[in-house]
Amino acid sequence: METLEYRERPIGVFDSGVGGLTVAREIMRQIPNEKIVYFGDTARVPYGSKSRETITRFSEQIVRFLQTQQVKAIVVACNTASAYALDTLEKEIDIPIIGVVKPGAKVAAEVTRNGKVGVIGTEGTIGSGIYSSYIHQINPQVQVTGKACPLFVPLVEEGLWEDPVTDEIASRYLTELIDIGIDTLILGCTHYPLIRKTVGKIMGDGVTLVNPAYETAVELKALLEQHELLSPCPPALGENRYRFYVSDAADKFKRFANSIIKYGILSAKTIPIEEY
Ligand code: DGL
Repeated sequence: METLEYRERPIGVFDSGVGGLTVAREIMRQIPNEKIVYFGDTARVPYGSKSRETITRFSEQIVRFLQTQQVKAIVVACNTASAYALDTLEKEIDIPIIGVVKPGAKVAAEVTRNGKVGVIGTEGTIGSGIYSSYIHQINPQVQVTGKACPLFVPLVEEGLWEDPVTDEIASRYLTELIDIGIDTLILGCTHYPLIRKTVGKIMGDGVTLVNPAYETAVELKALLEQHELLSPCPPALGENRYRFYVSDAADKFKRFANSIIKYGILSAKTIPIEEY
């Protein structure tokens, strides 16, 4: 077993920007003893429309930065980065690392009753086919239909979480999935849990929404337990429990973050990520 000091090290969590805060929030709720170092790549967002090579390079830089912060494990809290870069990252580092795709895919494969699962996400995530390949590893009979919803990210970032404009766009995107008769829908992008109500209203009660952010926190806890890395006690009072770093526009990040995380974002520091 690792020393107590090692187990008290933080978890590194990263995303292309603010979206991964939905994952960080679940970790804070489900494993409150853990410290977090969060990095949001606000200078280079969005990841959803960029190539695999670019996202892998960005992710490698971020992981190098997080390792300078002495993290004991890493969560790739971005669906696009999980889809494109996780395999490479796993080979490059020797601490536990998980993404958000596998946990979401696993639950969807388990909960579908009619074997028809929908996935919504960025162009990158949907184009990679990653959700469907993980689901098929568990159950090859499941029919998986992906739908890229690129306008959801800007709508969420504009704060239009419950707004007629979002209702309209969501109806257009989701009609296809309703027509297919899916009974399970994966919210395969970090921003989508924030418009869960709108999506749920359009899909109707018969469709189970899977939130990979929630499932990732469940799986992270299990992974830390398995590696005997769970922090046994809450951080001492006054200790910097949650630290936030970005690559640009720290104030804007802080405002958004404070609107979704209730644990107080004391500060967000800008760092030159290209140097890592
Ligand atoms: N965080 C990204 C994801 O989950 C969405 C935003 C972006 O395109 O960078 O795929």
